[in-house]
Amino acid sequence: MGDIHIDLATNKIDQKGYLDIEVPATLDLFAEIEKLKKEKNAIILAHYYQEPDIQDVADYIGDSLGLAQQAEKTTADMIVFAGVHFMAETAKILNPTKKVVLPDLKAGCSLADSAPADLFKKFKEKHPDHIVISYINCTAEIKALSDIICTSSNAQKIIESLPSDEKIIFAPDKNLGAYLNKKTGRNMVLWNGACMVHEIFSLEKITKLKIRHPQAKIIAHPECEEPILRLADFIGSTTGLLKFTQRDTAQEYIVATETGILHQMQKDSPGKTFIPAPPENNCACNDCPHMKLNTLEKLYLCMKYELPELKMDESLRIASRKPIERMLAISAQYGL
Ligand code: 13P
Ligand code: SF4
Repeated sequence: MGDIHIDLATNKIDQKGYLDIEVPATLDLFAEIEKLKKEKNAIILAHYYQEPDIQDVADYIGDSLGLAQQAEKTTADMIVFAGVHFMAETAKILNPTKKVVLPDLKAGCSLADSAPADLFKKFKEKHPDHIVISYINCTAEIKALSDIICTSSNAQKIIESLPSDEKIIFAPDKNLGAYLNKKTGRNMVLWNGACMVHEIFSLEKITKLKIRHPQAKIIAHPECEEPILRLADFIGSTTGLLKFTQRDTAQEYIVATETGILHQMQKDSPGKTFIPAPPENNCACNDCPHMKLNTLEKLYLCMKYELPELKMDESLRIASRKPIERMLAISAQYGL
């Protein structure tokens, strides 16, 4: 073990958000993880933005809605959540009696961070006659201040399920909110939050890339800024983008979302070419630094030691569950 102290009684992992235990390089992690799944009746739920090895060992890979739905219906004793904190937290909110572990407790989300609960509460108080729809990429505290949760794959249906004169606050993603205002003709009041990954794409570089690949279709996640969305041939959630590439006849795609999704796109359509949309700088900024904190080693360790475990205050859990349940009920109504 490294220099951190793990108190198994309190689930306290000092400083680092993960177990800093050396894993022998000779260990077959894929086989060990499979063994642990059986031993512990555990299920691994992974988001498409996870590294390819994690996706390959997962029992279910999906977008935020699919992951919440799987978390709600699983019969496993332990949910191993390979994603970011708000996703594992959603799984815990839906499954208070199950153990929810995650590879790295510090895998956060810039979008969730862009809406601190105290400021959002004041914002909400300025619009007392509005109902609050929050994108699932937010903390449990924000969920507790919301009436309905949505994801990028059900947001439009959820908004349209409300009377057309209903006054709505949409939080925390201003880009997704602006896109939805355009799609639904509503005038939702938007919280000024954004995702650092989806705001980094370069319009100029994508335009140049399209000139070099004129047959390529541009596909984008609705968390991208409006000028990028205007260029897109198709806009959708990660699952929506993946399904589009499976059914569409084009052979080349410029993909404006986090690069992790390319792994499934390439696996499902091996003959097609997928080009990650370039970011502003020469960095790997279209890799989410939070999602990519998770590694196969950390995943193995969190399963073996059942740490770090996601724990939450019961009153917050109950308050944040209601708007998630409303989302799941509306989604089921529409067959989503
Ligand atoms: P979806 O997988 O729901 O499209 O969300 C993307 C995302 O940014 C998750 O953090
Ligand atoms: Fe959050 Fe953006 Fe990373 Fe998704 S890609 S987890 S929205 S920072």
